[in-house]
Amino acid sequence: MKTPLVELDGDEMTRVMWKMVKEKLILPFVDLRVEYYDLHLKHRDDTDDRVTVDAARAIMKHGVGVKCATITPNADRVGEYNLKKMWKSPNGTIRALLDGTVFRKPILVKNIRPFVSSWKKPIIIGRHAYGDVYSGTEVRVKGPGKAELVLTPAGGGQEERFPIHDFEGPGIVQGLHNTDGSIESFAEACFALAHEEKMDLWFSTKDTISKVYDGRFREIFDGVYDRWRERFRSRGIDYFFTLIDDAVARVVRSEGGILWALKNYDGDVMSDMIAAACGSLAMMTSVLVSPRGYFEYEAAHGTVQKHYYRHLKGEETSTNSVALIFAWTGGLRKRGELDGSEALAAFAGKLEEATLETVESGVLTGDLLAVAEPGPENRKVNTEGFIDAIAHRLGEKTGR
Ligand SMILES: NC(=O)c1ccc[n+]([C@@H]2O[C@H](COP(=O)([O-])OP(=O)(O)OC[C@H]3O[C@@H](n4cnc5c(N)ncnc54)[C@H](O)[C@@H]3O)[C@@H](O)[C@H]2O)c1
Repeated sequence: MKTPLVELDGDEMTRVMWKMVKEKLILPFVDLRVEYYDLHLKHRDDTDDRVTVDAARAIMKHGVGVKCATITPNADRVGEYNLKKMWKSPNGTIRALLDGTVFRKPILVKNIRPFVSSWKKPIIIGRHAYGDVYSGTEVRVKGPGKAELVLTPAGGGQEERFPIHDFEGPGIVQGLHNTDGSIESFAEACFALAHEEKMDLWFSTKDTISKVYDGRFREIFDGVYDRWRERFRSRGIDYFFTLIDDAVARVVRSEGGILWALKNYDGDVMSDMIAAACGSLAMMTSVLVSPRGYFEYEAAHGTVQKHYYRHLKGEETSTNSVALIFAWTGGLRKRGELDGSEALAAFAGKLEEATLETVESGVLTGDLLAVAEPGPENRKVNTEGFIDAIAHRLGEKTGR
């Protein structure tokens, strides 16, 4: 490895698996160079969340990061970890700095059929990773009063005020934003990936209700499409805009083979729906592609809290590490491509093959056993046994 990979460690069961994956599937095969940042919740608290910002800056310096799942604290976690405050979502902080689009693609295996029987090809989600509710301002309104939006132009222009609501009693209010620049790079990234993958691009918002906010997303996508129209035509693919509710109904009846671009919150929800319908939240890749050429690979799922509590009690767990493994392979392959190291990119391919073949051979974690085609070869293994089985195959493939 010429350039270090930026490694962002995380929390709970995914932290336990992250260590096993690194020790059993990466270190014995790769002369690994990493710049390590510990995003364990306690360490984020100790550093006043400085470590999250430092990690994002390191990705901006070196270009490629791999991230374990992390806890986004709520009131329970503040008590559990005795935190100084309810820190923001690390993913939100990182995405706000890197900007960009999160692409999520199901990991398909022969012995697990999607619950939606019409899906023959993968559905990739392109989730805008900047702004909206993830960097919103929210206020509890304590009693009667007027809420307004106030725009103060830089350079001393006329202030503008827009009414939100006249409260007669307590309530809540929220302020959201996005920028034309970020939406444009989101659109550009989606058109480019759809073109590369030779897939139709769908985009959906609720611009009938949110005429200005969602309407602006649609206008920008239309503008970017004008630049891609000819290239799409020559590839035999289409761009299609429809309302989010219509898109949901159509996706469920489709054959798949679509790149579905979604606003930040819609993408968050829909990617879990697609992953769960394809078998498990752990059977999905996730990469943040920044318009400035940075890449962050992660698992799309959370820290698998319940399994972690069982693990802490010394009970056996059977947690699926596939998405974490694919975070590492995505990062190593990209590092290999950027640094011209074919061996590194080839290793990433072998590790992915070993992982898929292990699942297809019937060696399954609990979540997969519940959805796999029944077969005499199926057997449930524990968290470590699954990783050991992959390591064994990888050893055979690499001759180590
Ligand atoms: N990317 C991230 O860093 C990220 C994403 C979502 C949630 N979180 C955090 O994770 C914690 C737990 O959140 P949650 O319970 O909503 O989400 P989760 O993804 O951890 O779990 C949701 C459900 O899916 C199952 N599941 C998820 N991944 C699995 C795996 N690898 N193997 C087997 N089963 C799996 C769980 O058992 C659970 O039933 C929270 O503190 C949350 O803040 C982090």
